[in-house]
Amino acid sequence: MSKLTIPVRKFDAVIVGAGGSGLRAAIQLSEAGLKTAVLSKVFPTRSHTVAAQGGVSASLGNSEEDHWHWHMYDTVKGSDWLGDQDAIEYMCRMAPEVVVELEHFGMPFDRTDEGKIYQRPFGGHMSNFGEKPVRRACAAADRTGHAMLHALYQRNVRANTQFFVEWMALDLIRDESGQVLGVIALEMETGEVVAFHAKATVFATGGAGRIFYSSTNAFINTGDGLGMAARAGIALEDMEFWQFHPTGVAGAGVLITEGVRGEGGILRNSTNERFMERYAPNAKDLASRDVVSRAMVTEINEGRGCGPNKDFVLLDITHLDPAMIMKRLPGIREISIQFAGIDPIKAPIPVVPTCHYQMGGVPTNYKGQVVANDGTPVKGFYAAGEVACASVHGANRLGTNSLLDLLVFGKSSGDSVIDDLKSGAIGLKALPENFADRTMARLDRLNTQTGGADVNATRLELQRTMQKHCGVFRFKEMLVEGVEKILEIEKAVARTEIKDKSQVWNTARVEALELDNLIEVAKSTMISAEARKESRGAHVRDDAPDTEANPNGRDDLEWHKHTLWHRDGNRLDYKPVIMKPLSVESIALKTRSY
Ligand code: FUM
Repeated sequence: MSKLTIPVRKFDAVIVGAGGSGLRAAIQLSEAGLKTAVLSKVFPTRSHTVAAQGGVSASLGNSEEDHWHWHMYDTVKGSDWLGDQDAIEYMCRMAPEVVVELEHFGMPFDRTDEGKIYQRPFGGHMSNFGEKPVRRACAAADRTGHAMLHALYQRNVRANTQFFVEWMALDLIRDESGQVLGVIALEMETGEVVAFHAKATVFATGGAGRIFYSSTNAFINTGDGLGMAARAGIALEDMEFWQFHPTGVAGAGVLITEGVRGEGGILRNSTNERFMERYAPNAKDLASRDVVSRAMVTEINEGRGCGPNKDFVLLDITHLDPAMIMKRLPGIREISIQFAGIDPIKAPIPVVPTCHYQMGGVPTNYKGQVVANDGTPVKGFYAAGEVACASVHGANRLGTNSLLDLLVFGKSSGDSVIDDLKSGAIGLKALPENFADRTMARLDRLNTQTGGADVNATRLELQRTMQKHCGVFRFKEMLVEGVEKILEIEKAVARTEIKDKSQVWNTARVEALELDNLIEVAKSTMISAEARKESRGAHVRDDAPDTEANPNGRDDLEWHKHTLWHRDGNRLDYKPVIMKPLSVESIALKTRSY
């Protein structure tokens, strides 16, 4: 192996990822005068946050009464009681503050007639501890993520954050004590490899929905943070929990916001029935996403799907005022016309559940500090947004809590860096002598491998396997077989070959490196899912028994705990769910229905 010395650049903080959480963390750090680098595979305003549509949740109560405690209750219930109640309380209490702060950064929210931030209903958002739907999602038409990303980016420009655009982080640097000292990264255009040596490293790398064949996620969502963390010996938490968004455009997977149902859209089957009335008599089309997705798949499986193959259902907004559609939902009209060939003002949109969000991730506390198994912070390491598991989403996330998560934990991770620097808990330590060896070995292998597996074919096999064996409904034998298949695919990933090694733009190299991360995510997901022998939130198994004590197949006696997957030996262990909030009473376990 080459004993290469690579260039080293020093920063107070390096943030990996320039979506909502990375940009929010960067504002906190740069405005505090810290020398802050943000690395991103794409231009910041093209990060996947741009695709978020329907809104960001906060109990502002602009159109009707609302309260952060109701929001907290909905989030705990939505999580199927797997969310940590300290983190959930923190997020819901902070929501009004971070949303108003965002407004002051210049976010162009829609307005009510009185000039307040416009709010719409969303799935699982209820008033008075689950009574009836409430308007809590603060929206900029159906392009909320897009507007948010631009507001945050502009604020960073003002704060002199240093952006490294089209740079891919490859590996975390840790010393023998376990402290994190930065990352090694590749400039995608030139192939140059550089160490970003920092007092603090913040992962804001987003999700990994590209492990599934059908996904609302961007091509960049390859779980780079999860792969880097796993390779550096950090366990991944609750990876069996993946959200399938009910309304992806059939055949294309592109997101149609839940805000469509918030504005009055209705799901119908082939008999034109509003079938959600049977599955969720109270919340109907605005039940939480796992409930709606399962109902849709059940309708399809029982022969009430639409179209020649009866393989989708319909999202109907033809009864809504066209002027409202043009004002509040212009983006989804455009998407529907382009991807389904249908103008939703005139005809319903064909939709199917599509992989959307990872609830698990790198374990953190509510301060955005990455935590080791014993709950103590990993020095110098922070994470926020979809890559992190705080855990506020538990077994199922409520719509619009993702954008809120980015703001709250982006900010708190930045604050924690500042506090830890001030207290002397972290500082710039020397890089270990061989810090780049493992990364250079990975790159060397890609430069020399012959007779290996094709990157695209291997990734496709991984995605098809995940889709088939670990989807909306899960089956015991399929999961067991899925584990075997993924471990086989792992062997191919270790031997992938770049056919044209002369390529200047490094695309093939980047795709191979991304596949190294996807396989870690796929392994942790399949192995954790096979092991969890109950149904909870988005993880639903056919063999989980429904009993009086275990309604809906949930088994609180045995399985009310977080999974931790360790890459080393694919070992699993578990840790308790935090049931004690910060200031209010615990929300006790009960059966979940909408
Ligand atoms: O449906 C949506 O607009 C998606 C929002 C979310 O995932 O939070």
